[in-house]
Amino acid sequence: MIATITAMTEASEVAGPAPLRVAVPRERQDGERRVALVPGALRSLLRAGLEVAVEAGAGEPAGYHDAAYTEAGATVVADLGGLLRGAAVVLHVGPPSDGEIQAMSAGTTLVGLFRATSNLPLLERLAAARIDVHSLELLPRITRAQEMDVLSSMATAAGYHGVLMAAVRLPRFMPLLMTAAGTVRPARVLVVGAGVAGLQAIATARRLGAVVEAFDVRPVVREQVESLGARFIDVGVEAAETGTGYAAQLSGEAEEREREVLSRHVADADCVITTALIAGRDAPRLISAEMVAAMRPGSVIVDLAAEGGGNCELTEPGDEVEVSGVRICGQTDLASRMAGDTSQLYAGNISRFVLHLVKDGKVRDDLEDEILGATCVVQRGALRGAAAPPPAPVTPVQQ
Ligand code: NAI
Repeated sequence: MIATITAMTEASEVAGPAPLRVAVPRERQDGERRVALVPGALRSLLRAGLEVAVEAGAGEPAGYHDAAYTEAGATVVADLGGLLRGAAVVLHVGPPSDGEIQAMSAGTTLVGLFRATSNLPLLERLAAARIDVHSLELLPRITRAQEMDVLSSMATAAGYHGVLMAAVRLPRFMPLLMTAAGTVRPARVLVVGAGVAGLQAIATARRLGAVVEAFDVRPVVREQVESLGARFIDVGVEAAETGTGYAAQLSGEAEEREREVLSRHVADADCVITTALIAGRDAPRLISAEMVAAMRPGSVIVDLAAEGGGNCELTEPGDEVEVSGVRICGQTDLASRMAGDTSQLYAGNISRFVLHLVKDGKVRDDLEDEILGATCVVQRGALRGAAAPPPAPVTPVQQ
């Protein structure tokens, strides 16, 4: 059943003040299959007294039909303008289109993954439309925010899917096989970076029967790598964790040492999965063109750091290339390829964020709160927080 927002508003005028409306438009970027809210996740919002409206067809690419949203208690709206006008909160996966920005009312709060620090023109358009923005990649890595952590959810999917992509491209089996025709040795997988994506890649490659080795600059992950049945490579370099929970950047010398040790392991590997990222910087270049040239033809590199420029010098972000017989996968849409489950995880994260954002029937503007303060990049028409322009240089006063 498709309703119109006018009818909903008229009904609520009779019944008293309308509850806050959360609107979920269809994602409009090319190739995006995810949806910000799935039927199973909207109950918690309804229980909190919110009203949920979803654009007709928003969940279709991820496998969630309009009827399932209606059954779960949402209103399905065909007209985008009607959906967005007057919504208190708009939930997105990626950036909204210009048409959506025009249709949103001033004072609306937009929540999603906007890569705020590298998307300033978008934020400026949103600020000009007086739309407040929370960008979820900026969530602090604190225990309280773990249940909202969309980056971890998407990295889990990328780590899993990255190994499957490698498995179907490799001209060999992953597991050891003993057959009447002879024994097939297991594939050797090297995982560089053992954070959320890397650990999931290790677990998936192990389940497929590969022999796995891994490295990370944070020494605390050695135990996690070993507990998954992989060997931790001792490179002899370490990086501290920053206050925000991310790895700090290595010095040029330490990075060189890492490349030197890794080059032997890369040459031995049938498949290399790279996931090394440094928050707010380009991904470190750990696999050089010479290291690729030393790999056996038919080997595969899946560069899950492609979005940050890639860990391999030859990665083409968003694309797959073959260089001297080695396939290098730089696709950046792995989470979208698993839209059924990644939408469910994303919806679980974002609905918990909304329950934190809305209190006593109002959208909070309290930026003293650690979570809201870190994620808010536009408030009342101005860029702020991680998106704030750097302070103007102080010019010394001439005596
Ligand atoms: P990430 O995506 O920023 O980086 C991926 C991995 O690359 C990290 O493990 C990092 O140490 C590693 N790396 C960086 N430079 C490297 C280099 N030169 N060589 C090899 N590896 C390198 O991090 P991710 O995966 O999002 O999270 C890392 C850790 O943060 C998690 O394992 C978890 O312990 C913690 N975390 C905590 C959260 C919370 O408390 N809310 C939320 C998310 C993660």
